[in-house]
Amino acid sequence: MAGVLWMRLAILVFVATAALHPQRSLAADEDPLQDFCVKDTTQKLHVNGFPCKDPAQVQASDFASDSLKKPGNTSNALGVAVTPANVLTFGGLNTQGVSAARIDFAPHGLNPPHVHPRAPEILFLAKGTLLVGFVTSTPDNKLFAQTIQAGELFIFPRGLVHFQLNVGYGAALAFSAFNSQNPGTSQVAKVLFASTPPIDDAVLEKALQLNAADVQRLRSLISKT
Ligand SMILES: *[C@@H]1O[C@H](CO)[C@@H](O)[C@H](O)[C@H]1NC(C)=O
Repeated sequence: MAGVLWMRLAILVFVATAALHPQRSLAADEDPLQDFCVKDTTQKLHVNGFPCKDPAQVQASDFASDSLKKPGNTSNALGVAVTPANVLTFGGLNTQGVSAARIDFAPHGLNPPHVHPRAPEILFLAKGTLLVGFVTSTPDNKLFAQTIQAGELFIFPRGLVHFQLNVGYGAALAFSAFNSQNPGTSQVAKVLFASTPPIDDAVLEKALQLNAADVQRLRSLISKT
């Protein structure tokens, strides 16, 4: 009986602690400590985020951006153009914990397997048909993939490898939102085969069970994407 009581108490303490410290379980950017902190591009400080522009100098235009207005150029090997509107291009987002992107797809275009280390992604498909999917982490490595149509949403959980392939007849257009001002992107193929400096051949050969010629070939192909 005492054992059961102790277990109940332990569960109660755990639940209460989790409720008092929501930041520990919810992963998103830090909360702002003032109304806004428009990015000051003149300072060269290294802080987590960016220093704030003098509030007296802030204008309405600091909170507007036209970076997603124009289609990206999809004339490339993958047939895709990802245009971000994050804190690097849109200073008003600094400390607000949100950002956006537009993704233009040529027919058969692919946004290749990649990860956003700092945010989940919610994608809204404005035009076309996409095959979208993500793979869970080890040990399951389970693929969740599905075809979505214009007007539909798909959520890619934070930090998981995911992709989008245009499987419709014409071009496709999607918009994504992130709960981070700077979600970051690691493209799997580029991380492995197009890093600076390059990862040692021995690492890639062993990890992917390739020979030296395969590694050279992949380096050359992937550096062009
Ligand atoms: C798109 O990119 C291709 C390849 O880099 C280039 O040749 C072409 O001029 C670009 N088109 C536009 C409209 O910028």
